[in-house]
Amino acid sequence: MARQLIAGNWKMNGQGAQLDFFDDLVSEIAAVDVDILICPPATLIERCARAVDSAMIAIGGQDCHVNEKGAHTGDVSAGMLKDAGASFVIVGHSERRADHGETSAIVKAKAEAVLASGLTPVICVGETLAERESGEAERVVVEQMLASLPDEASDRCEIAYEPVWAIGTGKVASTDDILQMHSALNNALPSGVSARLLYGGSVKPDNAAAILSLDHVDGALVGGASLKASDFASIIKNSIR
Ligand code: PGA
Repeated sequence: MARQLIAGNWKMNGQGAQLDFFDDLVSEIAAVDVDILICPPATLIERCARAVDSAMIAIGGQDCHVNEKGAHTGDVSAGMLKDAGASFVIVGHSERRADHGETSAIVKAKAEAVLASGLTPVICVGETLAERESGEAERVVVEQMLASLPDEASDRCEIAYEPVWAIGTGKVASTDDILQMHSALNNALPSGVSARLLYGGSVKPDNAAAILSLDHVDGALVGGASLKASDFASIIKNSIR
């Protein structure tokens, strides 16, 4: 059974004053047998990487450009994130897909750029409420995953299933729906790809244990509850198998 990965996505939150977070977190979790990742805004990656013991907490980016360098004002490349101290990069988050028109083809190119830089992509997929209500969720999400995965099989990929309607809304998918989707994604993974399957969307201290004990749920991608060290610590403690 894969070691669980509990990842925090700070989104566009956090400044230098927030770095106490790591002392608070470490004081609550001590030695746990779980992989921990925090993805702060790009401006904080270097400071976060300096603030943590990388053997205990990895730092990641929230997005990157498909190219390594060039005339792309405002963008950062996977290599730059690595240089700043990141070892993971989230790609294809639904907020990027919605706000920046990122298609699965773009997400795939980003995942390939992340792998080429020696980092690990966390590839996000998820259905909208309309897709779920019309019974299309499983087909849409499996298709999204297959279209977003790098061409070359790699065991250095993570996948996060995040129903769009569950992100930041407090509405969490039912354990039956999560189990069904994770089984479908696990069955659809191309041969040679061994990715951990994370669930994301309103994961909180009070629902983490039920979600993280499900088959084929290898961790969580946590937004809002990753901003508070005590909540994130509680989710981490609930992940221990
Ligand atoms: P949430 O966000 O936990 O605040 O719902 C999850 C995510 O967007 O990764």
